[in-house]
Amino acid sequence: MKNFSNYTDYDKKDNLHFESKAVHGALGTEPLTGAVSMPIFQAVTYRHPALGESTGFAYSRLENPTRQELERTMAILEGGIKAFAFSSGQAANMAVFSLLNPGDHVLLSDDIYGGTFRIIGDVFGKYGIEHTYVEMDDLDAVKAAIKPNTKMFFVETPTNPMMKVADIQALSEIAKSVGALMVVDNTFLTPYFQNPLKLGADIVTHSSTKYLGGHNDTLSGIVVVKDNEEIAEKIHVHIKSHGSQLAPMDCWLLLRGIKTLPVRMDRHNENAKKVAEWLRTQPKVKKFTMLDLRITKIMRQPSNRREALEV
Ligand SMILES: Cc1ncc(COP(=O)(O)O)c(C=O)c1O
Repeated sequence: MKNFSNYTDYDKKDNLHFESKAVHGALGTEPLTGAVSMPIFQAVTYRHPALGESTGFAYSRLENPTRQELERTMAILEGGIKAFAFSSGQAANMAVFSLLNPGDHVLLSDDIYGGTFRIIGDVFGKYGIEHTYVEMDDLDAVKAAIKPNTKMFFVETPTNPMMKVADIQALSEIAKSVGALMVVDNTFLTPYFQNPLKLGADIVTHSSTKYLGGHNDTLSGIVVVKDNEEIAEKIHVHIKSHGSQLAPMDCWLLLRGIKTLPVRMDRHNENAKKVAEWLRTQPKVKKFTMLDLRITKIMRQPSNRREALEV
């Protein structure tokens, strides 16, 4: 593993397996001391070495070394150019919806998380942003819901709570054809099981409070931008203006959680399968919903998308 001597250069680790990327992060070791766990930089203001010179850090609302390591790690895991760490999943989604202008229209998954439902209805509704809920697994319904002012598809897949699955690649193609941004809330599958940016999405969001953190101790959110520098800059302006970034201690907790993401996700899958098999034998259980485990595995390969959805 390469040791870096400053915070600017880092390794995207393209040749490593997902598991190794999750463990090693971006810098891997802290450049000044060689600490293999990125320290918690509990600092706000940074002294410049000289007039006109900077260490790359000035004020923690703008950049913080621990947050930067987390953001770069998430950009690496999701395959985007830039990631941003927020104080909650709600704050992350607020930043994404802030890309819209008054008069714009957004299509959302009909079974979306309740908090997202509130953001778009109660908060952005009064700023003149229109929205329509649609069954994202029904591509004809999606096409029918598009309006001339549709600027974003906001897709949660699988949805919370009913685990409805959408075809990210097909939806991305439709979104692109009408010039709309394709956003995927990847909270439930995480980049370990699903890579929306590789399937054509422009932006990924997370409530990293869930599987990424993994220990129920850190409220947090992530936004990852695939390749559009202009969008990344807009999110950057949003986070530094709103002050909704994640605190250094929480960034460190999340970095620590991410190191064990692959092993935890595999175990979640095994456990869910056992619970499902038990539920299937219970006479009082009429119906239960779970994401088919074969789908989640296959969804990592974009080329297998159609077969996956037919399982
Ligand atoms: C799919 C999904 N997105 C976003 C959120 C909001 O995240 P947070 O609770 O971290 O603000 C949640 C929370 O449960 C969620 O399940």
